[in-house]
This record gives sequence, C-alpha cells and structure tokens, in this order.
Amino acid sequence: MANHKPDRISEYEFSIGLRLTHWIRAVAIALLVLSGYYLSYVFAQPEVSSTPTLFLQAKIRMWHQIIGFVLIACFAYKFYLFFFDKLSRKEWISIVDFLNPFVWIKQIKYYLFMGKHPHLKGVYNPLQFASYFFFYVVLALICLTGLVLYVHVYHEGLGGLIYEPMRAVEAYMGGLANVRTVHRVCMWIIMFFVVVHVYMAVFNAVKGRNGAMDAIVSGYKYVKEEH
Ligand code: HEM
Repeated sequence: MANHKPDRISEYEFSIGLRLTHWIRAVAIALLVLSGYYLSYVFAQPEVSSTPTLFLQAKIRMWHQIIGFVLIACFAYKFYLFFFDKLSRKEWISIVDFLNPFVWIKQIKYYLFMGKHPHLKGVYNPLQFASYFFFYVVLALICLTGLVLYVHVYHEGLGGLIYEPMRAVEAYMGGLANVRTVHRVCMWIIMFFVVVHVYMAVFNAVKGRNGAMDAIVSGYKYVKEEH
C-alpha cells in the first residue's frame, strides 16, 4: 500500500469570538439589506382595513433597528478583538505584508495564474487586507448614518442620549437627505463586497487547497509544512 505522508499541518487561525461575530454579522447584513430595501422601496403593504393596527412599515423598521444594533455590537466586539486579543495579533502582522510591494506583485501574479502564492507573515494577503480595511470603513459609515436615522425615530433612552451628537453628524453631512443617500450607497457597496468576498474565498480555497474556507468555521486551516 502506498505510504501517504501528509505534507500539511493544521494551524489555528481564527478564534471562536472572531468566527461567531463573522457569521452573526453575515446574517445581520443579509437581514438588514432585505429590510432596508423594503424601507426604501415599500413593495408590499397589508390589505387596507378600518383598524389602524397594521403598521407593517413600522414593524419592519423596528426589526431593522434591532438587527442594526446587533451589527453595531459585532462591529464593536471585532474592534476590541483587533486591538486587545492575543490571537488577533496575527491580523496585525498582515500590515507588514501590506507594506511590502513584493508581496503585492506576487499576490497579483497568483491571481492571474502567473505564479505561486507569496509566503505571508500575517493571515491576510495585501489585497485582502486593503479590501477588508475599506469594508470596515463602509461598515462604520452605515452604522453611523443608521444611528442618525435612529435618533429621528426614538427620542428616549439611547436615542435621547445620542440625539445631540447625531444631529451634529447630520448637519456635518448636509442634512437628513444626504444621510439617507450615504446609508443607501453604503448598502450597495456592502452588497458588492459580499459577492466579491464569497467569490475570492471560494477561489482561494479551491486553488490553494488549504482549507481557507474551513478556517472561518472550525478555526483551522491546513498549511504546507516548512522544513
Ligand atoms: C448592512 C447594514 C445596513 C443596511 C444594508 C441598511 C439599509 C438601509 C436602507 C436601504 C434604508 C432605507 C433608506 C431610505 O431609503 O430612506 C435604511 C433605513 C434605516 N436604517 Fe439602515 N441599514 C443598515 C444598518 C443600519 C444600522 C446599523 C442602523 C442603526 C440602528 C440602521 C437604522 C436605520 C434607520 C433608523 C432607517 C430609517 C428608517 C425610516 O426612515 O423609516 N440601519 N437602512
């Protein structure tokens, strides 16, 4: 019988907190896109009746806001992990690869089927790091504009507490109409990102055969043993 000696070892890449927030965020984004689309373009309404208790728009807005706060919580937790979690240090090291032009060139060659994958010091390749960074900027913007819209719906509790600063953000953006536009444009950027993100994840997992997609589920990927 042939002796199959495994040439790969498993490497723990993503902590449980990181993986959980990734998937909660993914579900939250899907639900926010669906409910947000409805809020912007009311494509269904309950049958008109004399009892004014249907309030479908208000109910969907309520769920949009609840899930919006789940997304904000995930964002805050990820922010905390990035700066204070020991295991997330590996994400920091990706900055070294990001600043190295040779890694950029090698990575682009890899995507064009013109060369091998560069050896990375961190967990993300430079293109991946740049796109994730941009994604977090857009995510921060959609959360911020979401909070500005929120203070116009609820004026008590948290809504009251952040009312003044959010009104200042609104004025800075040139009014509520602009805030809405930015909120909506961010949605389209996020939708585009998600499609490219899933495509790239599958591409890397299939081409690299290193369980790149497993890592965000089990935490482990399978790297070639270096001698
Ligand atoms: C992926 C994240 C999100 C997406 C895709 C999204 C999408 C949308 C869209 C398309 C609208 C309709 C805008 C319009 O045409 O006027 C909207 C409205 C709104 N969003 Fe979001 N949103 C997101 C996150 C958030 C967050 C984090 C909050 C904060 C709690 C939030 C709160 C609101 C509120 C209060 C409205 C206004 C509802 C109304 O005018 O009745 N959103 N959202």
